[in-house]
Amino acid sequence: MAPPISRIGVLTGGGDAPGLNAVIRAVVKAASNAGIECVGLEDSFDGLIERDRSRVLTPRDVTGILRLGGTILGTTNRGNPFAYPVTTSEGTHDYSDRVVEMFGKMGLGALVVIGGDGTLAIAHEFGRRGIPIVGVPKTIDNDIVGTTNCFGFDTAVAFATDAIDRLHTTAEAHRRILVVEVMGRYAGWIALYAGVAGGADAILIPEIPFDFAVLAERLRARDRWGARFSIVVVAEGAFPKGGGHTLLEAAHGAHAERLGGIGAEVCHALAGETGKETRSVVLGHLQRGGAPTSFDRVLATRFGGKAVELIRRGEFGTMVAFDPPDIIARPLEEIVGRTKTVPLNHDLLMTAKAIGVTFGD
Ligand code: F6P
Repeated sequence: MAPPISRIGVLTGGGDAPGLNAVIRAVVKAASNAGIECVGLEDSFDGLIERDRSRVLTPRDVTGILRLGGTILGTTNRGNPFAYPVTTSEGTHDYSDRVVEMFGKMGLGALVVIGGDGTLAIAHEFGRRGIPIVGVPKTIDNDIVGTTNCFGFDTAVAFATDAIDRLHTTAEAHRRILVVEVMGRYAGWIALYAGVAGGADAILIPEIPFDFAVLAERLRARDRWGARFSIVVVAEGAFPKGGGHTLLEAAHGAHAERLGGIGAEVCHALAGETGKETRSVVLGHLQRGGAPTSFDRVLATRFGGKAVELIRRGEFGTMVAFDPPDIIARPLEEIVGRTKTVPLNHDLLMTAKAIGVTFGD
């Protein structure tokens, strides 16, 4: 039998999400209480490439971070040691071998990788190369398969809902159409949940290409029965029938494409089609900042605790997942390369349609 693990690494990768620090705290505390030392690796896998980019984390180091947004370890969504050369202070190289070597040299027995689909795919590759991995799913977009919720999603929805509430009063006062662009690259979970919670009249999501004419007619109908304002929530990844994503920046090198601008396009088109005054607002990275909600703090803490439990049991190549009411382990290979989009028969989507919300289809 392999000797018990006495030292583990923990890293955060990809875009940040409220609750990352809550996971780190839970991992460090649960590990420490089990006699396992924790090493925090900085800026995703960079901490396993460059020396002096890691530090031992004690319970003292993580006291007080439960409620903080961001990540005390730093993160990046550009580093993939497999797919392309990574640029560090030493220049640009393929560093995947270095990661495996450093993992051994640092005396680590397992690695907790807190990240989204991209980071978890990289982790899975390192799992194949012999690094014992436990993944923790993170994304405000909530689009990782195998888990009902990722931490960060609830916080993003709460923020977007508050923003929509505020826009409601000004939209009504001026009898305008207000278009709110929320995050959600390939899945419309934030738009759907915040749209319903905020009482939006139209919700546009990547899963349902929309028709400007249908959308405009539904909003004109509201005017006819006396509601002379409307709220439209649009996911950044939504697009019109026959069209494509609206980009701020195309993919290049290590950088993924940056979505954004569909809210302004919808706003412009609706002004023309309805003759009403329209305004648009992009919530952007505000959705990723700030303190996690109590739901996300609890979920993140449960994920961190479960990750350490899986390490102690030797259940590697896994990702912790929320399968209400339980936290379970799922094989990483079932997760990577897939996206959890909103099913077209999803109960919330059907309910929204039933109460008169249009999806522009
Ligand atoms: O994946 C989460 C997400 O918030 C997406 O909705 C968004 O497109 C992306 O991150 C933006 O990431 P960044 O601006 O950090 O590159």
